[in-house]
Amino acid sequence: MSANAAQAPSGARETFSSRSAFLFAAIGSAVGLGNIWRFPYVAYTNGGGAFIIPYLVALLTAGIPLLFLFYAIGHRYRCAPPLAFRRLHGGSELIGWWQVLICFVICTYYAAVIAWAMAYVGFSLTQAWGSDPGAFFIGSFTRTSKDVTVGFDFVPGVLGPMAVAWVITIAVLALGVQKGIARLSMVFMPLLVVAFALLVVQALMLPGAGKGLDALFTPHWAKLADGSIWMAAYGQIFFSLSIGFGIMITYSSYLKHKSDLTSTALVVGFSNSAFEVLAGIGVFAALGFMATQAGKPVSEVATSGVGLAFIGFPAIISEAPFGTVLGVLFFASLVFAGFTSMVSIVEVVIAAITDKLGLNRVSATLLTGIPCAVISLALFATTTGLNLLDVVDAFVNSFGIVAVSLVIVIWLGVGIGSLPMLRDHLNSVSSFKVGRKWQLLVGGVTPVILGHTLIESVSDRLLNGYGGMPDWFVGVFGWGMAIGLVVLAWLLARIPWRPGSVGDRAAADAAQRRAAP
Ligand code: ALA
Repeated sequence: MSANAAQAPSGARETFSSRSAFLFAAIGSAVGLGNIWRFPYVAYTNGGGAFIIPYLVALLTAGIPLLFLFYAIGHRYRCAPPLAFRRLHGGSELIGWWQVLICFVICTYYAAVIAWAMAYVGFSLTQAWGSDPGAFFIGSFTRTSKDVTVGFDFVPGVLGPMAVAWVITIAVLALGVQKGIARLSMVFMPLLVVAFALLVVQALMLPGAGKGLDALFTPHWAKLADGSIWMAAYGQIFFSLSIGFGIMITYSSYLKHKSDLTSTALVVGFSNSAFEVLAGIGVFAALGFMATQAGKPVSEVATSGVGLAFIGFPAIISEAPFGTVLGVLFFASLVFAGFTSMVSIVEVVIAAITDKLGLNRVSATLLTGIPCAVISLALFATTTGLNLLDVVDAFVNSFGIVAVSLVIVIWLGVGIGSLPMLRDHLNSVSSFKVGRKWQLLVGGVTPVILGHTLIESVSDRLLNGYGGMPDWFVGVFGWGMAIGLVVLAWLLARIPWRPGSVGDRAAADAAQRRAAP
């Protein structure tokens, strides 16, 4: 199918009611768990203050240009990724399904982390973790089995909040794009900013906060010569801006025809980074306090991910003056940031099913959301959940998000040569125009960086395994899952579009245009 002949028919597609509704939703999607627990540690371990240079370079050379690209695809074709890629080129529907399946995998464990944070808002009130937050989280709360095995015994303390998280997610999505997603984001994003700003103020007043900020911001210029720092910066930008998940294609498909795409993308990109820096300040001020209390250097108390949020922070909360307030603000921030990202991830799956099967919003939400919730609970509300989450998260990021993004930029750049057409589309609706440099960044610079990152990750994982986990576990839930997604995407792309669905109508329109004299 020729790209230019493939404009979507203008059906009754839902839209965001205004630019600000879209901005809240898009920023809500980008600002997520990754900003709060990932950025501070990545910046700290990769050159501290000097990390800001590769970070800004990655934002300007890949983050923002790729946001432009995905906004252009979603806005031009006005559909979810599988149909959008099919409209770009008949043979590329698989790429869209690959993105949908990545979202499916991510949402199954993202719900678990939101559920933990919900439970910890309550635990903060009583400091339920006692004197050993690590033993509490691993032993009492998640009841993680000591050996890495597949024992799917349910953990009621996790199952309950996870079920609640899924009910909220499905209810919001059933309400639709404007009444559900946009309204949730317009309430939760301001709450997040207020809660996190209060947390930062409280953290900055703790004794030793300056020590933490020194550790985070002292630049180690020599580290800039190390290629891995640059890779870390690109990895952070991709995860944090939700690039490669198909979210931005899906959300921008709900924009009105007259929408200024590039300036909107600039606002989203810079807002996300601003929040990331704020998170770094809050988290490291608190870590500086903890290091001072323990009489240790910050390097010994700084951890990332699950360890930082559910073990490190509870220890800080127990020691800090007004620790209960700090705890409620921190875990509530994770809940607010988590939900606005979670709905965006599940929305990609719902939108794809809607396009393929021609269902209405409520039917598509239930048909998609209930199986996602059941699989999510069956896998992650169990004694295996924590180990599984660790492996699945690492592999879906490296060999899902990075791999699919690499395939997309190569395919659009040199495979089907769609970048000039997408550039024209951006420029036809936007006030900030893009030129040939944009094409060069998307089609030249990004593939090189992503290709290098992917080769490094594959060789590292093949040589060193992952996190000391047994090879069979990593083989099944890491490599097996990542390869399985591509096979499943190929199969989904083979399923015919349901008669009367938007994809089926588009194919009929295209055939009619081709047949016309
Ligand atoms: N961008 C989202 C996050 O940072 C997925 O968590």
